[in-house]
Amino acid sequence: MAFHEKQLPADAPIADKALNWIDARFPVTSTWKAHLSEYYAPKNFNFWYAFGSLALLVLVIQIVTGIFLVMHYKPDAALAFASVEYIMRDVPWGWLVRYMHSTGASAFFIVVYLHMVRGLLYGSYRKPRELVWLFGVGIFLCLMGEAFMGYLLPWGQMSYWGAQVIVNLFGAIPFIGPDLSLWIRGDYVVSDATLNRFFSFHVIAIPLVLIGLVVAHIIALHEVGSNNPDGVEIKEKLDAKGVPLDGVPFHPYYSVHDVMAVAVFLIVFSAVVFFGPEMGGYFLEYNNFVPADSLKTPPHIAPVWYFTPYYSILRAVTSDFIVYLQVGVAAFVALLWLKSSLNSMLKIAALVIGLAIIGAMFVFDAKFFGVVLMGVSVVILAGLPWLDHSKVKSIRYRPSWHKYIYILFAITFVVLGYLGVQPPSAIGGLVSKVCTFIYFGFFLLMPWWSAAGTFKPVPDRVVYHPH
Ligand code: HEM
Repeated sequence: MAFHEKQLPADAPIADKALNWIDARFPVTSTWKAHLSEYYAPKNFNFWYAFGSLALLVLVIQIVTGIFLVMHYKPDAALAFASVEYIMRDVPWGWLVRYMHSTGASAFFIVVYLHMVRGLLYGSYRKPRELVWLFGVGIFLCLMGEAFMGYLLPWGQMSYWGAQVIVNLFGAIPFIGPDLSLWIRGDYVVSDATLNRFFSFHVIAIPLVLIGLVVAHIIALHEVGSNNPDGVEIKEKLDAKGVPLDGVPFHPYYSVHDVMAVAVFLIVFSAVVFFGPEMGGYFLEYNNFVPADSLKTPPHIAPVWYFTPYYSILRAVTSDFIVYLQVGVAAFVALLWLKSSLNSMLKIAALVIGLAIIGAMFVFDAKFFGVVLMGVSVVILAGLPWLDHSKVKSIRYRPSWHKYIYILFAITFVVLGYLGVQPPSAIGGLVSKVCTFIYFGFFLLMPWWSAAGTFKPVPDRVVYHPH
């Protein structure tokens, strides 16, 4: 394309001239229009739609506070713990920067979990937003890696023993496990080498991938347009200029909403940072105020709250639970044969894979299957766009009883999370086993339950009550 610079009158304001000069060389105005002032978002957004912007805000908070922490933190097993104490006591405003970063970690998960719940409620992962969702799942995996590696850095007892437990889990993988965990740690136990590599991943490698994925997430979303609480595609009803009839420019109509959400968020965030940064041991575990000691294992090692639902699933898989898992796999394969429209090749493949899994359960340790189920419990989210066979996207137009399934799933997730913080117990073990079945049942049976029942008619246009 030929170079083109607009001719402005000689007396045009200097700012206009500068912008014109830049626009001819870099797409500032057109990007602003495409993603903000002429990005048409459905006019019926509700509060659930604020969490994407809030996630962006928390990302920025984490990066900025992280940069300042790195200025004073020492990634050295002999110095790390003391350097964090130095940040807390001696660095001007260091305590604030550190508490913002530690609270930011939990805030990130709260905001992202709510953001994902919105996706579930309104079927935002469905066609044509599958890639938006898949980038989101990638972001979630990065966030988990980022939080896990960051947690080692203060080099407290929980940092140390948490990392030890989780890295040891890789040792349960048949054949390659022990070498793999040795490779991850860079030593026979968690040590200075581990701290250095986790530091490197935490401050640069994962954030780079995370930022790349967030950009991809938003580009993908803006390519297809936002979903909304009615699950109606607004691009199907356009005016003469090609603008969606039910769309409003994101800026200023939603930027102003988001400013409001940011204000509310910052009030709650500040309340935690200033009045309860440890959050009763949930955001900062008490044992982590004790320096790491490789000779003293704390009596109860639990991950931070946002990991505990998956940790509970890991703990639920004991050797006596394996037989129930085998029955579950067999029942699922039978269901695929009897009640699915898969072609015969896929049915045979499912049978072979099912038998292989059942057989492997006789051979390998239960711990290995615990690790597998824990991993699958997160990765299974990626399958949602293809597991959900409902005729409509939004919960609003699904059969009413679908709501109870979502409520049951939410309760299960919270119960698993609660049990994951508690020390193991007989009753807790039993409940977490039942919850593990419900958790996976929600996803694996979705092709059937999501299509069942009487759906309500979906309106042509979004439902909007002016306020
Ligand atoms: C750093 C984390 C994340 C950031 C900064 C982020 C950012 C955003 C933003 C700004 C939007 C548009 C505003 C909105 O609809 O709320 C959005 C939409 C969306 N995000 Fe995320 N997101 C993140 C994580 C995730 C995760 C983990 C998932 C799911 C696994 C996800 C799934 C979605 C979906 C499906 C939409 C489209 C929603 C709709 O149109 O109804 N996002 N995201």
